[in-house]
Amino acid sequence: MELGRFIAFEGGEGAGKSTQAHLLAEELEERGIRAVVTREPGGTPGAEAIRTLLLEPPGEGWGAPAEALLFAAARADHVARLIRPQLETGAWVICDRYLDSSRAYQGAAGELGDDAIRALHAVGSGGLLPDLTIVLDAPPTAVAARLAARDGGVADAIGGRDAEYHERVAAAFRAFAMAEPQRFARIDGTGSAGDVAARVWQAVERLC
Ligand code: TYD
Repeated sequence: MELGRFIAFEGGEGAGKSTQAHLLAEELEERGIRAVVTREPGGTPGAEAIRTLLLEPPGEGWGAPAEALLFAAARADHVARLIRPQLETGAWVICDRYLDSSRAYQGAAGELGDDAIRALHAVGSGGLLPDLTIVLDAPPTAVAARLAARDGGVADAIGGRDAEYHERVAAAFRAFAMAEPQRFARIDGTGSAGDVAARVWQAVERLC
């Protein structure tokens, strides 16, 4: 059985990742390819429980190393119990955020560094990487409007960090895409969901 393809969507908050993940799955299903949509942190019962700990932290919140370890732990469970088994059945897995979010948020913006994040990923998830990572670019004004509509201005513990933190995240995603053009596709996230989906499909089609 040929392994399914593994696609991740990345980008800042409110860039439209989850909408695009679902639209891509529909496009694949129409072509007879089984596709599973999942998200991080989360995707399995254990990882969803860790998600709650991360986004609504108890007490005074997590320090940077503990936060990175929790994301890596959630990912380890997700990879072992959902992502790898699904890929092995030949299904495609489409993940709303994955390792590159840890590299951008905890590694770059949170200042733990890329080597530490990659080391945790090697231990936790055998270093599994997506076949393609799509970075959705959206200007801050468009994102602010989407987030206000979605969250009503109430952000979680990480989404609520200051603008400077989120600028470092955005710069990190741009740098990752430039450093590894074969693993990443940077896609303009402006316009209608259908417009963006057409751009996403152009990047994904070659993997079919
Ligand atoms: P979520 O609501 O899923 O993201 P979005 O706002 O893009 O829809 O929240 C996940 C939050 O967790 C988001 O702020 C990004 C952050 N995150 C990390 O900091 N590191 C990670 O490894 C992952 C997967 C997410």
